Amino acid sequence: MRLPTGAELWPIAIFTVIFILLVDLMHRRQRWTARYPPGPMPWPVLGNLLHMDFQNMPAGFQKLRGRYGDLFSLQLASESVVVLNGLTALREALVKHSEDTADRPPLHFNDQLGFGPRSQGVVLARYGPAWRQQRRFSVSTMRHFGLGKKSLEQWVTEEARCLCAAFADHTGHPFSPNTLLDKAVCNVIASLLYACRFEYDDPRFIRLLGLLKETLKEEAGFLPMFLNVFPMLLRIPGLVGKVFPGKRAFVTMLDELLAEHKTTWDPTQPPRDLTDAFLAEVEKAKGNPESSFNDENLRTVVGDLFSAGMVTTSTTLSWALMLMILHPDVQRRVQQEIDEVIGQVQCPEMADQARMPYTNAVIHEVQRFADILPLGVPHKTSRDIELQGFLIPKGTTLITNLSSALKDGTVWEKPLCFHPEHFLDAQGHFVKHEAFMPFSAGRRSCLGEPLARMELFLFFTCLLQRFSISVPDGQPQPSDHGVFRALTTPCPYQLCALPR
Ligand code: HEM
Ligand SMILES: *[C@@H]1O[C@H](CO)[C@@H](O)[C@H](O)[C@H]1NC(C)=O
Repeated sequence: MRLPTGAELWPIAIFTVIFILLVDLMHRRQRWTARYPPGPMPWPVLGNLLHMDFQNMPAGFQKLRGRYGDLFSLQLASESVVVLNGLTALREALVKHSEDTADRPPLHFNDQLGFGPRSQGVVLARYGPAWRQQRRFSVSTMRHFGLGKKSLEQWVTEEARCLCAAFADHTGHPFSPNTLLDKAVCNVIASLLYACRFEYDDPRFIRLLGLLKETLKEEAGFLPMFLNVFPMLLRIPGLVGKVFPGKRAFVTMLDELLAEHKTTWDPTQPPRDLTDAFLAEVEKAKGNPESSFNDENLRTVVGDLFSAGMVTTSTTLSWALMLMILHPDVQRRVQQEIDEVIGQVQCPEMADQARMPYTNAVIHEVQRFADILPLGVPHKTSRDIELQGFLIPKGTTLITNLSSALKDGTVWEKPLCFHPEHFLDAQGHFVKHEAFMPFSAGRRSCLGEPLARMELFLFFTCLLQRFSISVPDGQPQPSDHGVFRALTTPCPYQLCALPR
């Protein structure tokens, strides 16, 4: 066969470029409607990918918001994205249009990591029957957990005791609390999923935690996003395994844990945990190919609960301890309330919370201030919607800037300060705020919220009941200023925990 010569190649090249531009225009024609939110002019094919500052996303976004307003649009290759800022826009999208904004944009690389149409788990599941079934299952299993047996609250209380014991081992020596907080929170999920807890020095447990963190790291950043907007690259053999080795290993580990769990499962007994309850549903659904209760999905759901429930809660606790170091007066007032309501002997219980408005306000303020998921989790419209006078077409990715509500200057007296009084009235009673939405809102809002609140309250009060927390002598104070990034404290820090 003869290869085309230079002169013959030109028409082919020109045709290809015109073809690509036409396909690109088709993707972008929605921008031509007058009421689409404004945004920077996208390039052909790449869109605004080159306008993004991947080293410092928040700063880049800040600039765009200043230029285009609270609702602005971006084009990430063929994906249309609209960023929502401000309490009104967020509530309108997530609550008023809750049904039409409940879809998620697909993560294509998950297809090669065990994610199929009937095994989408919960967090990233497309809006539809499989998501609804699994969301309902997780919520009701958590709510009715351990009826008659050990309740979730008992598991958390026991874990709080182990956490305190581990803190006590460090008495007098400065240490970083983060690993211990990760372990305690991870054990709470393990108790929900497997009715077991791991010892803090168990090598398998340490490996599980390591893989969980690695998975989160792998999925952030430029490359996964790039692969997601150009999914044809995922066809390159072996690429997914190379880019996501941690996720692969995590999935394998979940399979091992499940296989082990199955050896002790007795279908004639009431379920011990979420896995047992799921396995029972799998049995019931045998022969129904439509059901989302199958072994692959059990693995996805379990992975989802580990990854959604672990780092979120432990990062918040880490912020709580750091803020107590920075605000010793607040720490003392919490301890005073603990002493008055619970005393020094009794373990804190959820029932105490109603009588502890100050502590409750402090925990809410920690969540507001720490702002650990500034942009929440992306949504996607499944119908055209009208929002603040703009028209957002079906199939648009929505980025919910939760931070813009948590730091809204028109709502909060001191939006950029740690100020527990935000949640207290003049008489010292706890007050709620609509703009407090660290768990998001609407039908996709965090389903682990009750469990997260329980952990935050019980771990925090147990620790402060037994210890006073301070900066080690001679060490600089951690700083709470600077950028707010997803799932991190602003800096690693050490603390001293002295028994009270
Ligand atoms: C302080 C701790 C936590 C925070 C701040 C948090 C926050 C969030 C946020 C912002 C979302 C996204 C909501 C949206 O798409 O609009 C979410 C979703 C979710 N969270 Fe949490 N979360 C926390 C703890 C937990 C825990 C402990 C669990 C479970 C054990 C959990 C399970 C989930 C699940 C399954 C979803 C996906 C819900 C869905 O797509 O339908 N979270 N969370
Ligand atoms: C989100 O809101 C915060 C606080 O209002 C702001 O600093 C940030 O730039 C916003 N991010 C985006 C993506 O609009």
